[in-house]
Amino acid sequence: MDSMEHSALPPRTTSGPDPAGKVCVITGAAQGIGRTFARAFAESGSRVVVADRDTDGAESTAAELRKEGHDATAVTVDVADEQSVEALLRLTLETYGRVDTLVNNAAIFSTIVMKPFDEISAAEWRQVIDVNLTGVFLCCRAVGGHMRARRGGSIINVSSAAVLQGRPNYMHYVASKAGVVGLTRSLARELGAADVTVNALMPGSVDTGIPRDSVKPGQAEQIIAGQALHRRLQSADIAGTAVFLASDAARTITGQSIVIDGGMNFL
Ligand SMILES: NC(=O)c1ccc[n+]([C@@H]2O[C@H](COP(=O)([O-])OP(=O)(O)OC[C@H]3O[C@@H](n4cnc5c(N)ncnc54)[C@H](O)[C@@H]3O)[C@@H](O)[C@H]2O)c1
Repeated sequence: MDSMEHSALPPRTTSGPDPAGKVCVITGAAQGIGRTFARAFAESGSRVVVADRDTDGAESTAAELRKEGHDATAVTVDVADEQSVEALLRLTLETYGRVDTLVNNAAIFSTIVMKPFDEISAAEWRQVIDVNLTGVFLCCRAVGGHMRARRGGSIINVSSAAVLQGRPNYMHYVASKAGVVGLTRSLARELGAADVTVNALMPGSVDTGIPRDSVKPGQAEQIIAGQALHRRLQSADIAGTAVFLASDAARTITGQSIVIDGGMNFL
């Protein structure tokens, strides 16, 4: 029998009460799914860094959590800017001393304008790739290096089920989210030896209460009809999986892309 089958997993340096006491950085946490990630991680006992380009929104998320007795700090960051991302890590380490969980959720999403591929300007293309893919790379590079040195941690990258469908009319967005899957797989291999897990989430269409071009009035019903489960996905449906992936129960899951879409796509 393969000796690998018998080797016990080394204990994680970051394990504590699961995942209580951990430090979780969430990008794009000023609104939408990111705001729910912040709440879910705070409620599971993590200390939360609410990072967003929207300073007021980040502060409002953090203030709401603090009011309920959680430990949350808002940090302004532009994930597409190298120095800004380095400053995010620096501030987090000054405040909490470490990062156990990174949720790369920030993206140009609700503000995206749907249009055919040949109407997307090169500037729009670059902007979406810059934030949605390079932003994830920069955050992974900064925080992943810290996790490797500490020998433990979890990175959760938010991709999209739109990649599986090749959903038309926002090719820059779909391409950026497909890139996130590739990055996740590659980084999982590079950080595995340091006991750091790296996974992606592929949410289907989620009702966040924020209006957007990608779900026009009346379209939500069509989406629900295409799912095995006939109900609209809520942000909390996505957040629960992220909390699980950051927990010790998921310590052997890495490099995966978890589809949370009510059964729209089957892998
Ligand atoms: N809502 C859905 O149906 C759905 C489906 C699949 C995937 N997703 C993904 O889930 C994540 C969250 O989606 P959402 O619906 O909450 O989006 P949203 O557009 O409501 O929120 C995105 C957040 O990211 C922030 N942000 C944007 N650019 C930034 C930058 N350069 N630096 C820092 N912060 C920045 C925004 O300020 C905002 O707070 C995104 O990655 C999105 O692509 C959403």
